[in-house]
Amino acid sequence: MKNLIGVDIGTTGAKSVLINERGKVLASDFREYPLSLPKPGWAEQNPEDWWAATVVSLRNLLAKSGVSARSLEGISFSGQMHGLVCLDDGFRVLRPAILWCDTRTTAECRLIEQKLGGRAKLISLASNPALEGFTLPKLLWVRRNEPATYRKICHIMLPKDYVRFRLTGALGMDMSDAAGTLMLDVRRKRWSREILAGLEIDSAILPLLAESPDIAGSVTPQAAAETGLPVGLPVAFGGADNTCAAVGNGVIREGIVAVSIGTSGTVVAPTERAVRDKLGRVHTFNHSVPGLWYAMGCMQAAGLSLKWLRDTFGGLERAMASQTGIDAYEFLTAGAADVPPGAEGLIWLPYLNGERTPHLDANARGVLYGITPRHTRAHVARAILEGVVFGLRDGLEIIRGLKIPIGEIRLTGGGARSPLWRQIQADVFRQQVVTINVEEGPAFGAAIIAGVGTGVFPSFDEATRRVIRVTGVVKPNQRSADAYERAYRLFRELYTDLKGTFARTARA
Ligand code: XUL
Repeated sequence: MKNLIGVDIGTTGAKSVLINERGKVLASDFREYPLSLPKPGWAEQNPEDWWAATVVSLRNLLAKSGVSARSLEGISFSGQMHGLVCLDDGFRVLRPAILWCDTRTTAECRLIEQKLGGRAKLISLASNPALEGFTLPKLLWVRRNEPATYRKICHIMLPKDYVRFRLTGALGMDMSDAAGTLMLDVRRKRWSREILAGLEIDSAILPLLAESPDIAGSVTPQAAAETGLPVGLPVAFGGADNTCAAVGNGVIREGIVAVSIGTSGTVVAPTERAVRDKLGRVHTFNHSVPGLWYAMGCMQAAGLSLKWLRDTFGGLERAMASQTGIDAYEFLTAGAADVPPGAEGLIWLPYLNGERTPHLDANARGVLYGITPRHTRAHVARAILEGVVFGLRDGLEIIRGLKIPIGEIRLTGGGARSPLWRQIQADVFRQQVVTINVEEGPAFGAAIIAGVGTGVFPSFDEATRRVIRVTGVVKPNQRSADAYERAYRLFRELYTDLKGTFARTARA
């Protein structure tokens, strides 16, 4: 039997999975790494931590799976998008990576739009507006604030590209991740000369471009000694986490849409052309399946909202979890199922890290609105689950407005695992949602990409046909859907009412 590995370099840790040629998951492993939040709005990670976690995870994975390293045919990567990794002429990391959820770059975003002739012009070049999370504003931030570091930059990379570089010694970036740098001409699939010239970025620091299943290189003897992988194992480029998750969910043609709740929350709708929103409220990026694009609504703090509740107020639940082995989230959301839809007027605005879709507003902040003495801990948990789904609906509405078909909604990530969260999604979206047989997310998609790249699978279509099945269907409940409609309206109004206040507080 031929085996494949996928590794996801996520925001909270590295997850690796080992699958066989039938797509069966033989083992998986997860290693956490720290996230540094040195100032409000800042988020950084040390690329060495990604590599160290990957090494341990791969070793564990091989041990857990029991398969021989010789049965491996290939490996590939998925990764958190947009993070800026700067290297010098000796390929040494120059500073901590600045991550997708870091929002320090508002001034750089305005500068980009101004230098390139406005937001509409930028969207015509990059298919996307300038957003704080994207890579180019981060690079300009380093240029303005850390000029000595900037002068030493010889190569820039994205998170998973750095780990792949450590494994192979080869440089490069796939289209799906390059799309999130704001330097790619997403339609024509090449670095945008206009953008680079307009901002005086030296194209020599940018890597060569490839497609996700292309082979980037092979495992070096040194990396083999560290990880336990065989020397010479082919390594495919891999892709952005959202496209890898899409591949892993079979979301590889128009009409099938993935809704994912990880740290961020996304709605991914594949398209056969690069469909753009004139206002830039959803992103237009390249898919990991060559020849496809996708429109994506992206929330900054979806799973992060619930994680914040757990880490901040869930001491009791965490203690119960460590005693029983049951996930703390189960305790945290247990009572929420008994609270009526709409959480009796309690509304959560999930803007802990500002928001992208639909507001494009880095100043926005989290809000728990409408608290009365009636409201309990369970109401708060329910309001958070609902607020995250309202944010996802914002993305779905824009995608619908762009006339992109939404025939089937596939749930993935934390939102697919919880029965309550699944029902809330069906009700709030007013559309049936489905779950599938695989739960491994982006790492699983990366393993499929490795399989397509190495010829273990003849095509993405064939791979997903062999591997993915719909296993569950959740239909909307009409009464709940109506109750949510009222709450959703209030959710929308609250942002409009608070927008000015958010901006004023950010300036203060
Ligand atoms: C997408 C984005 C996030 C990260 C999370 O634009 O920033 O989904 O990829 O890992």
